Amino acid sequence: MTYIVKDECIKCKFMDCVEVCPVDCFYEGENMLVIHPDECIDCGVCEPECPVDAIYAEYDLPEEMLHFTELNAELSQEWEVIDAQEDPDPDAEEYSTITEKLHLLER
Ligand code: SF4
Ligand code: F3S
Repeated sequence: MTYIVKDECIKCKFMDCVEVCPVDCFYEGENMLVIHPDECIDCGVCEPECPVDAIYAEYDLPEEMLHFTELNAELSQEWEVIDAQEDPDPDAEEYSTITEKLHLLER
């Protein structure tokens, strides 16, 4: 089991999650972060830290959202690990209320 990042993160990247993760299993793309499913220890501390509620326990995901599990697994193999909080995306506030943003993912 793992936690995963969903598309609420895209063009926000607030990175409060990175600060609290005890095993540094967040990976950074151009405008989103993902969690490496084999490195996540399922502690759950990142979930309440995200200001836009982008982090879910895999077992809480509705069936139609399960492709985000695959997306996290795939992109965490391609992107670089991030272990310290940086500035959020410049458009973060504007995009923080938009929930369906997968079409905006840069990969
Ligand atoms: Fe890191 Fe824990 Fe969140 Fe997994 S659940 S990404 S180990 S903080
Ligand atoms: Fe993204 Fe939320 Fe972390 S916006 S970078 S999952 S704090």
